[in-house]
Amino acid sequence: MSNTISVNGTQQPLPEDPRTSLLDFLRHDLGLTGTKKGCDHGQCGACTVIVNGIRINSCLTLAAMHDGDEVTTIEGLGTPDKPSELQKAFLEHDGFQCGYCTPGQICSATAMLQEIANNWPSDASESLDGQMTITGEEIRERMSGNLCRCGAYANIVAAIRDVAE
Ligand code: FES
Repeated sequence: MSNTISVNGTQQPLPEDPRTSLLDFLRHDLGLTGTKKGCDHGQCGACTVIVNGIRINSCLTLAAMHDGDEVTTIEGLGTPDKPSELQKAFLEHDGFQCGYCTPGQICSATAMLQEIANNWPSDASESLDGQMTITGEEIRERMSGNLCRCGAYANIVAAIRDVAE
């Protein structure tokens, strides 16, 4: 037990109250408010972060359960001056309207594309020239845990596809 957690590359002490959710720890204790609270019940995906390379709903887990883990939030993926490829693609494709779900969408898509790349070729289609391809349908299925109440799905899928290809 190290009683610390790595968040965006910085070691942080775990919260004293073992009942603190990972979401509340990130937002309230560390001030990383890019991660959003939507339903607080594992239904919407707004709170998605990446833990040890896997996307999870941070509202459904306690910070204390992640002793020694590596957490990446939207703040750790890019900055306004140096956005990630997905962040740029969301801007280019207008992959949001109100933007509330966007951090979760981008964290989820980042980990999802890495999952596919790690398991390719079994996990994705192969184009005629041997490149990894992913259909809009595959993206919709894999991103089904991230809801967008504005309904910007077409542009979200377009942004992800742009980076996947
Ligand atoms: Fe965690 Fe909705 S706030 S899934």
